Amino acid sequence: MAVAELSPSFTKTHLHSSQLSSLSTRLANFRRCAFRPLPRARNSLTISCSVAPNQVQAPVAVQNEGPKTKTECFGVFCLTYDLKAEEETKTWKKLINIAVSGAAGMISNHLLFKLASGEVFGPDQPIALKLLGSERSFQALEGVAMELEDSLFPLLREVSISIDPYEVFQDVEWALLIGAKPRGPGMERAGLLDINGQIFAEQGKALNAVASRNVKVIVVGNPCNTNALICLKNAPNIPAKNFHALTRLDENRAKCQLALKAGVFYDKVSNMTIWGNHSTTQVPDFLNARINGFPVKEVIRDQKWLEEEFTEKVQKRGGVLIKKWGRSSAASTSVSIVDAIRSLITPTPEGDWFSSGVYTTGNPYGIAEDIVFSMPCRSKGDGDYEFVKDVIFDDYLLERITRTEAELLAEKRCVAHLIGEGIAFCDLPEDTMLPGEM
Ligand code: LMR
Repeated sequence: MAVAELSPSFTKTHLHSSQLSSLSTRLANFRRCAFRPLPRARNSLTISCSVAPNQVQAPVAVQNEGPKTKTECFGVFCLTYDLKAEEETKTWKKLINIAVSGAAGMISNHLLFKLASGEVFGPDQPIALKLLGSERSFQALEGVAMELEDSLFPLLREVSISIDPYEVFQDVEWALLIGAKPRGPGMERAGLLDINGQIFAEQGKALNAVASRNVKVIVVGNPCNTNALICLKNAPNIPAKNFHALTRLDENRAKCQLALKAGVFYDKVSNMTIWGNHSTTQVPDFLNARINGFPVKEVIRDQKWLEEEFTEKVQKRGGVLIKKWGRSSAASTSVSIVDAIRSLITPTPEGDWFSSGVYTTGNPYGIAEDIVFSMPCRSKGDGDYEFVKDVIFDDYLLERITRTEAELLAEKRCVAHLIGEGIAFCDLPEDTMLPGEM
């Protein structure tokens, strides 16, 4: 999916003294922030924010609060909320912790406000947002937190910001991993896989160490399938099933194009699968998709359009959008992250399914094991999913699936050093490209 920029230094747990002093100077000018070394064995540094006593006008008093809670919060969110005491909140569910990386980026800028509004988890679900940024984006991260403060969202009970994934992922039930480095001019794709792979290896380790054992992880930063694989391989204590690579944007794009061609509104398109990689080899499956409950091929009787124009349009939609916007998709990506979460926390409508990039081991379609591959899933709404059984294949579909599978296997060989499988060997196929690369 589209990426928010993240400095590679983000993954480091040591900062040089020069970095510290420039960062300290910068932050000293910001009234709410202070530095403190982390009180734990790992030699790292956290940046934490709180309201200075003289800035608090009429707080709901923070009583008997432990130092840890106090130092991890941001601004107004440092004031306690006694959920039990407030009449309005009596019917609310237990607070959930949501981590968002790349939190100062464009995608997050749309997503965070949807999360905080209740649009995603519901009007009775209070949330804590734990924002992960980079050293370079830290001021912007503060800006984001300030905007969240100013929005007065009733359900948003806590916000904290940090550059340390071990801090941010503490006890999180959801981790939305958006931050990744975009491919720069002259950068080989293998280089991108390596740089981002290191970020996701580190984040996998951090999730493994401190997140809820049942955390659901949605990887958005590109190349998202392989980043998700790296992440889950570095988090052996978390079920591999809990990791997703976001291909929901591709599903939405495919539904839109089919609706357009058939002359119907897009809610009439169902059973849309994206197979494989979030790249230009992805396979939007028009064989199993339906329009108004009928197979697409009975409604759109134009095989050539389906195989060529439609398929390519979906595969390269991200690139066309970059040309128009001058940057990667952000709003539609955030909408698709919301869709992906809601698909896991609400029961899938009878007979329908959704696409997600998930771990292939045990899949019923004969896809190679031990990669992350987009496939059709259904959920009971409990955060978990199962594979759809009743899908059909023809030669065209199988041939395309094999191609995207080969690409993912090649990406996996390229990151062998990051998933505990020895020395990396990169032999990426020619057509290995993100949707945004033309
Ligand atoms: C998208 O699908 O819009 C993005 O993943 C494009 C890209 O390559 O950043």
